[in-house]
Amino acid sequence: MSDSRETINHHAFVVGYPIKHSRSPLIHGHWLKTMGIVGTYERVAVSPEDFADFIAGVKSGALGYCGGNVTIPHKEAAHALADETDALTDELGAANTLWVDDGKLKATNTDGIGFTSNLDDRHLGWDRGETAVVLGAGGASRAVIQALRERGFREIHVVNRTLERARELAHRFGPRVYPHAMEACAEVMQGADFFVNTTSLGMDGDPAPILPFHSLESDAVVTDIVYVPLKTAFLDQAERVGLATVDGLGMLLHQAVPGFEKWFGKRPVVDEVLRALVIADM
Ligand code: ATR
Repeated sequence: MSDSRETINHHAFVVGYPIKHSRSPLIHGHWLKTMGIVGTYERVAVSPEDFADFIAGVKSGALGYCGGNVTIPHKEAAHALADETDALTDELGAANTLWVDDGKLKATNTDGIGFTSNLDDRHLGWDRGETAVVLGAGGASRAVIQALRERGFREIHVVNRTLERARELAHRFGPRVYPHAMEACAEVMQGADFFVNTTSLGMDGDPAPILPFHSLESDAVVTDIVYVPLKTAFLDQAERVGLATVDGLGMLLHQAVPGFEKWFGKRPVVDEVLRALVIADM
């Protein structure tokens, strides 16, 4: 037996409540199949009251899992219950990827990697500018702000319906992050190099406000973390004034890569076949 991995179980989960709509099983199932790996990845519905017991069962090995993904509403609890986390995940206070290593439960958050890898894939030089506008101040916004800061944006303007939440994020992330109420959106878009929607505005084709995308820099990049529909109202508005746009589906696909590699020992690729598979399921 030269491969020590043969002694490791290859059973992973995605846990949430509810969990029916998660597309992660489709993504990991595709990679398992195409890479010829014997393993499983399954949905598990666990209520908030039962989550700590579930985590104890994962950690002890009683549930037979090597790790898994965590989604709404358990990301904060997963972070709090983990034995080991990294600094970026601590700053977010939320984890979406868990694995058991040497009897310890380790946790990280891959949303930021998903966000940047999706944009990097398109070779648009999306991070060469200085000024970014982030619409929204929820959980997804935190990972995005952290990634923008890492990539060197000097001014990150957080615009939110509830000003107080934007203020909280500005306080958490420090001097380069500026909070604004929704009414100031047009003002801060003037001359900005990058725009991202992290709210649910425009999801499932719901109406989204008309924003002055023409006032961004002409080489600005616009993206959306909503991916249903692929061309959201914001991306459509940006495209109509000739701006480069990147849809949010790649963020979902790329955030799955580090977990798969941890649990199953091989790095999967995000390609057009996978993208088409997920689009066909939408
Ligand atoms: P997530 O973790 O996915 O980011 P969240 O924490 O519930 O979800 O945050 C949702 C974000 O979308 C928030 O910024 C929210 O604004 P508020 O902080 O004012 O609630 C924003 N959002 C949701 N629906 C919105 C709407 N109809 N108009 C404007 N902003 C909206």
